[in-house]
Amino acid sequence: MNRDVIIALDFPDAATTFDFLDQFREEKPFVKIGMELFYAEGPQMVCGIKARGHKIFLDLKLHDIPHTVECAMRSLASLDVDMVNVHAAGTRAMMEAGLKGLMRPDGSRPLLIAVTQLTSTDETRMREELLIDRPLEEVVASYAANAKAAGLDGVVCSPLEASKVHDICGKDFVTVTPGIRLTGDDKGDQKRVTTPADAGALGSDYIVVGRSITAADDPVAAYRRCVKEFLKEGD
Ligand code: C5P
Repeated sequence: MNRDVIIALDFPDAATTFDFLDQFREEKPFVKIGMELFYAEGPQMVCGIKARGHKIFLDLKLHDIPHTVECAMRSLASLDVDMVNVHAAGTRAMMEAGLKGLMRPDGSRPLLIAVTQLTSTDETRMREELLIDRPLEEVVASYAANAKAAGLDGVVCSPLEASKVHDICGKDFVTVTPGIRLTGDDKGDQKRVTTPADAGALGSDYIVVGRSITAADDPVAAYRRCVKEFLKEGD
């Protein structure tokens, strides 16, 4: 099982992103490109970062009819990224179609991860706006089981849910967990945060870290601290 720290490149443009990455001279961190950067700079941004030797999680959270998702995934697979995602709420049929579209002619494909419930959605909003009246934990567990049944590789979830997901879907089912803060850092808009060390102890396979690294005075030192804290639990 691969375990790693993924840096969220939540930047508005290519120049800011490359200035940030230029600070890393010794290591090539696994990075996440989200909608902000991808919609601003397009697929060439992915190619530019890949050419520098980084692994890439392309976080576009696809959610559409199965045929459209299959075709969109075919386009993303050609970008040579390492991880992509869909919303589990799109149904098993949509997830299966996404997986089919990702398969490259040589039989390889990026990891496909499902978003369960966004951490910005709480039980009140689920109940009152989405008419889902089950507990959040139960919904996350059910979406994870659907993703596993559709053949996906894992889910995005909170570190606090990682061990339950592993219990239901097996230890090889990947948990990718945002909501991470180094001790002493500002929580920002995240409601529940976990340190890299605690995420490691709770069984996360990949932690996604944005502002604790990107807004640090010394991002390289902050990245190294995250790696050291996170990976020591798995030794
Ligand atoms: O700066 P911070 O560490 O809070 O950034 C977390 C990253 O993970 C952001 O790119 C955010 O969009 C993403 N994310 C999240 N919660 C989710 C899914 C993705 O924070 N449930």
